[in-house]
Amino acid sequence: MDNDRLIIFDTTLRDGEQAPGIALSTSDKLAIAHQLAKLKVDVIEAGFAASSDGDHKAVRAIAENVKGPVIASLARTHPDDIDRAADALSPAERKRIHVFISTSPIHMERMLRMTGDQVMTAVTESVTRARSYVDDVEFSPQDATRSDADFMIATCKAAVEAGATTINIPDTVGYAVPADFVELMRRVYSEVRGDRTDIIISTHCHNDLGLAVANSLSAIHAGARQIEGAINGIGERAGNTSTEEIIMAIKTREDFFGVEIGADATHLFDTSRLVSRLTGYPVQYNKAVVGRNAFAHESGIHQHGVLRDRETYEIMDAASVGQASSIILGKHSGRAAFADALERLDISLEDDDFSAAFARFKELADRKGEITEEGILAIVSEEPDADAGKAHLVAIHVAGGNHEIPSATVTIELGGVEREATARGDGMVNAAFVALRTAFDLDAELIDYRVSPVTSGADAMAAVDVIVQLDSNTFSGRGVSTDVVEGSARAFVAALNKAAAS
Ligand code: KIV
Ligand code: ZN
Repeated sequence: MDNDRLIIFDTTLRDGEQAPGIALSTSDKLAIAHQLAKLKVDVIEAGFAASSDGDHKAVRAIAENVKGPVIASLARTHPDDIDRAADALSPAERKRIHVFISTSPIHMERMLRMTGDQVMTAVTESVTRARSYVDDVEFSPQDATRSDADFMIATCKAAVEAGATTINIPDTVGYAVPADFVELMRRVYSEVRGDRTDIIISTHCHNDLGLAVANSLSAIHAGARQIEGAINGIGERAGNTSTEEIIMAIKTREDFFGVEIGADATHLFDTSRLVSRLTGYPVQYNKAVVGRNAFAHESGIHQHGVLRDRETYEIMDAASVGQASSIILGKHSGRAAFADALERLDISLEDDDFSAAFARFKELADRKGEITEEGILAIVSEEPDADAGKAHLVAIHVAGGNHEIPSATVTIELGGVEREATARGDGMVNAAFVALRTAFDLDAELIDYRVSPVTSGADAMAAVDVIVQLDSNTFSGRGVSTDVVEGSARAFVAALNKAAAS
């Protein structure tokens, strides 16, 4: 690999998917992986094959079907993990096993209950085992930034000795700040890589202090030539480095960073929307690069400047990240127009899902008149409930007001059988949720509820995102409607369907 080339390693499907409430199916993961290949990231971390049969299946499906990027699977130092990762990756043209173990005192003592010597042995044995399957092995000393630097570096050296070719330094808990991170990375570069041009030094930063992107970029000056990130910055807690922010920082400030990337940024916006739609995680309006306001100008002075010359207030062109389109459909638009809009938005749906989304579009277009691109995206972001085994909302009636205790009656249909339930609550949304819980006969707890406007005006559509908890598992659901109570009920049904299936 050329020394001026920065490798973009995307972990949306592994670390990103670890964000609370996200549970992607294999087909969701395949869709995201295909999109990441279109975006031309260099490495896709497809999952953690040993963590569950579902993850193993998804890593294997991606290894079989997605061409272009290297496909990676995470593995602990356990022999079984390495074997599972190798098995899942076997169909891939280009594959990588990513081995990790913690090196910080708190993780070693409290979590692993291992001594330093035991950790060193585990590193050597696991990297050697991984190399017996693949040529491309990455090693990560977890919680590197809270580790004793000498010990952490010694584990990296042992990994290189055993055959690892990428050494990734994770700021697992988002503790680093750019100035000290760059110092640590300089040490790793000179002591672990030295003059071994075949060794790549990498970063993997979490965003607990909002510094993940800044820390990752600072490491480039210390010689890092791989950055790990996730689309929309999703991931554990406050998330990971945003892949899209790294790509655009490098492209926009190539003069400063002096490295090149292979990514095709024009697919960033579509990738961000796909990830948001399938994970149920909304993208904040002012999110850099992919937020819907990232290229919107509100003040008169700014608008005036941009009309004269876009570069007065813009350092990137919306089109360069794929943010430029204005699709509007009306209530008379038919299946062909709807299919054409989906194609322009790069969305492909199976027949049943297409029919369900089209029916929903017609229902909402009848109420609203016009549906914009954002409305279409919101409609397809609802989980279709047409699949066998899933309940769907047949009807909801609510009553309330400031002198009446709010109540809701819901009817759901499951496998041809209708179930009705009525409940009171401290608001109409709460009453609807209690009634749905009874209809599903599930004791799930609502732990997160968010309403986001999709379009503005009196007839605006809203997207409702909920997260429910059953036992210790969380499940997300999204509902879209011109009516917030109905949108909420649809979101609850989607989440309760997942909880019931678990
Ligand atoms: O944050 C972290 O330490 C990780 C490692 C497994 C690379 O995700
Ligand atoms: Zn991580």
